[in-house]
Amino acid sequence: MAQVKSIKGTHDILPNQTKDWQELEMQVHKTSNLYGYSEIRTPIIETASLFNRGVGEETDIVSKEMYLWEDKDKSIISLRPELTAPVVRSYIQHNLGGQSPLQRLYYIGPSFRRERPQKGRQRQFHQFGVEAIGSANPEQDAEVISLGWDILKSFGIKSLELKLSSIGSKSCRENFKSELVKYLNPFIPKLSEVSQRRLEKNPLRILDTKNKDEIEIVKSAPKIEQFYTKDDQNYFFSVQKFLNDLEIPFKIDPLLVRGLDYYTQTTFEICSENLGAQDALLGGGRYNGLVGSLGGKDAPAVGFAAGMERVIIAAKNRKKISPKIPTIYAICTNDEAIGILQNSAKQLRSIGYKVICETLRRSMRSQMRDANKSNADYVMIIGDDEFNSRTIQLKDLKNGKQEKVDLEKIISYFKSLTF
Ligand code: HAM
Repeated sequence: MAQVKSIKGTHDILPNQTKDWQELEMQVHKTSNLYGYSEIRTPIIETASLFNRGVGEETDIVSKEMYLWEDKDKSIISLRPELTAPVVRSYIQHNLGGQSPLQRLYYIGPSFRRERPQKGRQRQFHQFGVEAIGSANPEQDAEVISLGWDILKSFGIKSLELKLSSIGSKSCRENFKSELVKYLNPFIPKLSEVSQRRLEKNPLRILDTKNKDEIEIVKSAPKIEQFYTKDDQNYFFSVQKFLNDLEIPFKIDPLLVRGLDYYTQTTFEICSENLGAQDALLGGGRYNGLVGSLGGKDAPAVGFAAGMERVIIAAKNRKKISPKIPTIYAICTNDEAIGILQNSAKQLRSIGYKVICETLRRSMRSQMRDANKSNADYVMIIGDDEFNSRTIQLKDLKNGKQEKVDLEKIISYFKSLTF
C-alpha cells in the first residue's frame, strides 16, 4: 500500500533532534522569566480577518501565504501565520491592559505560511517571541531587543548581527512613500513584474529587492531618515543610546524592510552568518497602532519573533548546555524478577536517576549491547542468582567494576554516588 508522507514544507522533529528543541524552549522560558515576561498561549486557528486587519491585506503573508478555509458555519478560518495579531487579540479580549499598565508577554508555538520551501523556510515553522504592550518609551524597545539577544546568546550562537532601523511615524512614512514612488517611476520598465506590482501596492518592499539591477536603482533612492520628524529622530537616537548602554552592538540599516504592515518607528532583525539566504533569525519592531486597529483602547507596543528552526541551524556547533543526568540501564533475565526491577527503577527515578528498563525480554547479550549503546553510566542486572539471593548486580560502565548489592540497599547505594 502507498505510504502517506508529511506535507511539503512540513517536517517531523525526530527523537534525535528534540533535545535541541527542548533546550531552546528551556532557554526561552528561563530568560523571558528573568526579564519578568509571562507566557501566553493562543489557539493555532483564528478568524482570518484578524490577520487581514492586523498584518495587512497587501503583505505577502496575508495575500499569498495564508492557509484558509470556510468553516461549516461559513466563517473564514486561518492557520495563524504569526503570533503578534493573536496575542493582541487576546490582550484586548481579556482586558489585560486593565489588569496592568504594561503587559510583558512571551510565547512559543507553530506558525504557518504557504511559502516556497527551502533551507530555513518551511510552511509549518515554529516561533518564540515577546510582546510588551503598554510602554511608549525607547527603553522598552531596548529591553525587548536585549531579551532576544540574550536568548540567542544563551543558546550558544556566536556570530550575531543586529540590524536596526526606524520607519518613523505615519506622516514620515507617507511622505517617504510618495517620494520613493516619484523616484522609481522613471525606472518602471527596468523593474521586475513583482516590483512593478509592489510600486502600486507596497512600494517600501522594493527596498528589500534581491534583484541585482534593482539593488543598483534602490541605492540612489531617497532615504527614510530624510523624512523623520524631530520626534522620530529623538526616539530613534534614544533607542540607540539604550542599546549602547546595554553594550549590544548594532548596525543601522536604512534598507531594512519588514514584511508586515503594523510597524511604526523602530524595526530590527538579528541575523546569523551560518544561515545562507534566509539569514534572519529574529525580527520585530514597534507597533503603536495595532491594538487600536484591532478594536482595543490604543496602547503602544513592541515585540519580536524568532524562527526556531533557523535558530537551531545557526546553533549547530554550539556547546550543549543541558546537564548530564546519571543513567542506569536495568537488565533482567529472570521473568519473575521483572516487577522487582521495575519497582527499583521507580525508586531510583524518584531520586533523580534516569533508568531504562528492558521490556523486550531479550537475551543477556542483546540487553548488554543496548546498555552500551544507550550511553548509560551503570547497568543493574537481576538474573536467577540475584533473584534468589535478593541482590542486584551493578556494573559501572565507565570503569568496568562490578559488585553485588542487597536489593534493600540499592537506593542508599545510588544516593551516595556523586556525579
Ligand atoms: P517575521 O519577520 O515575519 O515577524 O518572522 C519572524 C521570524 O520567523 C523570522 O525572522 C524567521 O526567523 C522566522 N520565519 C518567518 N517565516 C518563516 C518560514 N516560512 N520558515 C521558517 N522560519 C520563518 C513576525 O512574525 C512578527 N510577528 C514579529 C513581531 C513580533 N513583530 C513584533 N512583534
